[in-house]
Amino acid sequence: MSFFTYRDGAMHAEGVALATIAAQVGTPFYCYSTGALRAAWREFADGIRGMNARVCYAMKANSNLAVIRLFGELGAGADIVSLGEMQRALAAGIPARRIIYSGVGKKPSELMAALQAGVGQINVESSAELETLNAVAGQLGVAADITIRVNPDVDAGTHAKITTGRKENKFGIDIDLARDAYALAGRLPNLRVVGVAMHIGSQLTSLNPYRSAIARMRALIGQLRSDGHAIDRFDIGGGLGIVYADEKPPSISDFLAMAARETDGLGCELTFEPGRRLVGEAGVLVSEVILVKPGAAKTFVVVDAAMNDLIRPTLYEAWHDIVPVKERRDAATIRCDIVGPICESGDYLAQNRDLPPLAAGDLVMIRSVGAYGAVMASAYNTRPLAPEVMVDGTRFAVTRPRPSIEEMLSVERFPPWMEPTKP
Ligand code: LLP
Repeated sequence: MSFFTYRDGAMHAEGVALATIAAQVGTPFYCYSTGALRAAWREFADGIRGMNARVCYAMKANSNLAVIRLFGELGAGADIVSLGEMQRALAAGIPARRIIYSGVGKKPSELMAALQAGVGQINVESSAELETLNAVAGQLGVAADITIRVNPDVDAGTHAKITTGRKENKFGIDIDLARDAYALAGRLPNLRVVGVAMHIGSQLTSLNPYRSAIARMRALIGQLRSDGHAIDRFDIGGGLGIVYADEKPPSISDFLAMAARETDGLGCELTFEPGRRLVGEAGVLVSEVILVKPGAAKTFVVVDAAMNDLIRPTLYEAWHDIVPVKERRDAATIRCDIVGPICESGDYLAQNRDLPPLAAGDLVMIRSVGAYGAVMASAYNTRPLAPEVMVDGTRFAVTRPRPSIEEMLSVERFPPWMEPTKP
């Protein structure tokens, strides 16, 4: 079921016309459907029923406080990668013990703050981090519950910039070196080994890489147990893909059933860390056409959203569906690039699209941007971050307002040796 559909010729998010939001909030803006977020969560919750498993939302995909709170209220934990994300998770009401701290480079001060807050699990990615964490935990007089993120060396078959489970990636500890790392962890007095972790990549559209990785991890878990380690948890990571164009990603229930089957008899609690699959299809970006510029080769439709608002097309060659907010029944289309106003050739949202002819003032909706959309935005060109809006049925609310230019400038300072600005 889609939560973004035309009703009486106008694109709606659930029961709210996007044009109504645009009139009140201005463009561009991100818009999230609560129904879609809940529906994705429910599929995970239903899928793990009866399993010894939990879901920790990878909040890097979308860390809007309202989104995190929604998942938290539904029972989610959080997978965080920074102290900023930790504070967001706590501010949104996720209990610290339900937080997992991941990441390839955590500073001693960050590890200390995480231990002080009482995060439930730290996924360690290197021997150096084991030593640092042990020292920090010793200073605080606590034991840190850890897993080691193991790199199982499988090809996730995704874009080079978002694959993580190959030997040549910086993530985790090489599976061939994992036993040594666990031996070190076992010798360090302030660490308590609770399990193993992996994450092999993002936007996976096949279950096969998961199967191969889990099989390798199973063998490792057997070895680690015979080495005397207590491996009670198996963190399988995230990565399940969504539909951008014509991908056919596995259903959430098939994914979870596969994980249950492949780990049968292992006696581990499973952790899933989905990000994109929970939020990706639940968010859209709405933008207004500024002008249309016909060219010899193709037409450029210049809109008021740009690469600073949505970096995925230019960074990953990502394809996002774009449709007019006002339904167009005419069959005629023109070949165009949808571009932003930024002075860079990489500033596009789509290239070589066949869209109904658009004119200044028309609104367009860019789909499947709930994940890695707003969170990857920047204020390049002193463009204010696009606001985020949440819709629930016929209600909507701005969950992060657009900053004014004055607010943006007010955080900067002149050095004391410069002349004060004259009024
Ligand atoms: N767990 C760990 C340790 C991760 O590194 C990630 C994502 C996830 C879970 C969640 O993965 P997901 O379920 O969302 O695929 N910016 C890129 C995606 C980067 C993903 C980074 N790690 C994009 O826009 O495609």
